[in-house]
Amino acid sequence: MPTTAAREQLDGIRSTSDSIPEADSDRISEIRRDLLGRKSGRLTRLLRSLRDLEPGERKEIGAAANLLKNQVESALEAREQILSQQTASDDEVDLTMPSRKGWRGALHPVTTVVDEICEIFREIGFTRIVGPEAETEEYNFTKLNIPLDHPAADMQDSFYLAPGVVLRTHTSPMQAHTLEQYEPPIRIVVPGTVYRRDPFDPSHSPVFEQIEGLAVDEGISFVDFKAAIDFFVARFFAKGTSVRFRPSFFPFTEPSAEVDVGCPMCSGSGCSTCKQTGFMEIMGAGMVHPAVFERCGVDAEKYTGYAFGMGPHRIAMIRHGIPDIRMLFQNDMRMLSQFVD
Ligand code: DAH
Repeated sequence: MPTTAAREQLDGIRSTSDSIPEADSDRISEIRRDLLGRKSGRLTRLLRSLRDLEPGERKEIGAAANLLKNQVESALEAREQILSQQTASDDEVDLTMPSRKGWRGALHPVTTVVDEICEIFREIGFTRIVGPEAETEEYNFTKLNIPLDHPAADMQDSFYLAPGVVLRTHTSPMQAHTLEQYEPPIRIVVPGTVYRRDPFDPSHSPVFEQIEGLAVDEGISFVDFKAAIDFFVARFFAKGTSVRFRPSFFPFTEPSAEVDVGCPMCSGSGCSTCKQTGFMEIMGAGMVHPAVFERCGVDAEKYTGYAFGMGPHRIAMIRHGIPDIRMLFQNDMRMLSQFVD
């Protein structure tokens, strides 16, 4: 090869080497192949052809070519190193990625119902308290005038933790604890979890919430009870919701009643939710039975009172038109996310 050709090749190689880009990995590998490829790399071939040069020229061009080879190698290596560092840090934070939508939490609809109900009763003087979930038969049944041979006290209906000890089947035992502990006037609401040997189906759950209410003082009558419930319904349900008191029976109240509200789904005209009755039951209630006062050491001649028990799960279902109580336990985000405001 003539010397001038070798010089020209050297110049060409040098200018390619000067144009190695900073951050184009494809182009960098391409240049590596073009210059240093083992068979046909331009620099490789030039070095191989040094032996064809005149000895004098060979020394000069050989030195220049070897120097250039070192420069090209270190330039390529430096670029490759920068590139691999960039890739690693790009893996950690990709600034081009669309941002993720933030998660926002919300209270469970049953919790909201419990809080709202307690708040409404707080406005008319009721204190919110809590009680134990494990109760003796005495408090869960006997002191509430429920005889132990009543079906509710049966092993088939209640969860027994030990002989004589049950998971409370209602929040009513807190009536007995409060009557024993405090002098009237008493006004309490007691939210809490209760347990029954019920199936887990669209309208039952073995675990659910209740809110107990109790008001005891001198001269309390059924009229006071009705006024309190009217106040509650007007506050909690839609404007104009009707209220109905039906006679009922509970061992711990006399007289006893069940309270219904006009079905919010059909506004009382009858639909599948209210089974064509136009009403939905929201609570059991009544005037505290004198036998309960006596068993709890309260003077039944001096004091009277009313009590009620409602189910926040049921009330949440009525309020939101939820057809199956299990949806309130499954924590399915498709259901719960509807309550994020
Ligand atoms: N404890 C009753 C139940 O679990 C509900 C109830 C009814 C509570 C009448 C009361 C009441 O305080 O007066 O079904």
